[in-house]
Amino acid sequence: MPLPPGPRQPAPVQTARWLTRHIPLLEDCRSRYGETFTLRFTGIGPLVFLSDPESAKTLFSNDRENTLPAGRTLLLEPVLGPRSVLLLEGSEHMRRRKLMLPPFHGERMRSYEKTMTTVAAAEAATWPRGIAFPIRERMQAITLEVILAAVFGVASGPRHDELRDLLSEILRQTRRSLSQVVGLATRPLGRLGPYAPFQRMLDRTDELLAAEIADRRADPDLAEREDILSLLVAARFDDGSELDDRELRDQLMTLPVAGHETTATALAWAFDLLLHDPPALERAKRAAIDGDDEYLDAIGTEAQRLRPVITSVGRTLGEGGTYAGHELPAGTSVMASTYLLHTRPDLYPDPYAFRPERFAGTRAETYSWLPFGGGVRRCIGAAFANLELRIVLREVLRSVELSAAAPRAERPMLSGITLVPRNGTRVIAAA
Ligand code: HEM
Repeated sequence: MPLPPGPRQPAPVQTARWLTRHIPLLEDCRSRYGETFTLRFTGIGPLVFLSDPESAKTLFSNDRENTLPAGRTLLLEPVLGPRSVLLLEGSEHMRRRKLMLPPFHGERMRSYEKTMTTVAAAEAATWPRGIAFPIRERMQAITLEVILAAVFGVASGPRHDELRDLLSEILRQTRRSLSQVVGLATRPLGRLGPYAPFQRMLDRTDELLAAEIADRRADPDLAEREDILSLLVAARFDDGSELDDRELRDQLMTLPVAGHETTATALAWAFDLLLHDPPALERAKRAAIDGDDEYLDAIGTEAQRLRPVITSVGRTLGEGGTYAGHELPAGTSVMASTYLLHTRPDLYPDPYAFRPERFAGTRAETYSWLPFGGGVRRCIGAAFANLELRIVLREVLRSVELSAAAPRAERPMLSGITLVPRNGTRVIAAA
């Protein structure tokens, strides 16, 4: 059974287009081949792209049989480690996921709210006045501080400072496509090749994480502590066993890597769209002052619809099935294209317009709004990220008079695996 149609260019050309002209490639494929098509990637092979809600539902409903998409482990394992919840499969994955969900649920969110508010307000107070700066970098500083406080507890000191610097540098290097390629190709050379400095940073990070874990295990007040590391040290699987140090390290790396850059970029996009839409900006400022969380949340939802940070979420099919009229056999690599789904005019009239009102007072439909993926692998930090979006928008809009430094909204480009504003969304804070 042939796969759905797609561009005929050789895989390296398609890979280059994916990396350098990401949105134009997706749009071009939609207009040529329709809502379902196949792209071919160097080192990964063919990927079938789906962009209708029915297919997304079928895909994620079969998640117990599906496995990870081609490429996820290849790109992330060197940093996250083999036992990261993002990379494990089947029952091993489900056991970890169950253990890691409680810190991201309901009641616990309230304890993060205070940190998010304090960090955002303190950061905004340091911004230069009257000169342009890229707000994405400032959002990265906020989200890194927030995730480190949530994972390790609010503490300062040389170990935390070093950890913060290392993690931000590791993330910076990981998202550069070229350094990914060079890193993967030269990793087998170990401590001699061009990968060596990066490996040294990872080794040092591991030492610091090991010291944090050892402190926590020895802490007589562990049961009273609320940070995620303490919860994970105290957590037990159904059979009474615990996470060993090696595995704790992998989960501790996973949370900042999965949660910091993604949330910062979603925030940068929210500001980018807002600052180029004066009526929405005015309404947002009022909402921030009046505590109208509903409108602030609608901004976050709409920004993630129009500029999804992760533009597609993949699986390898565990069982064959019919997707948008195509028979796909077990083993096919399939991507739900979040971007194409989110810009369907039948789901979102005038799809390229930024209209937070679409979501005011309503929740996004499960299979029509997929920035966090779906099924049994849906992002465990989704509620955390949405809360952070609301709070950072609120604090910044309340305390700083911002305007866009460029007349037009930014062009999106792919950086590593995230869709970022090309110039980091340059803004000016009024004097
Ligand atoms: C706007 C911010 C974020 C976006 C766009 C995002 C997006 C995603 C996506 C697309 C996935 C894959 C889902 C799938 O395969 O179905 C994922 C998984 C994951 N995310 Fe997020 N994420 C964000 C924030 C966070 C935060 C704040 C955390 C934690 C603090 C986090 C932790 C994770 C973890 C642990 C997984 C793996 C879940 C699993 O495989 O079971 N993410 N995220």
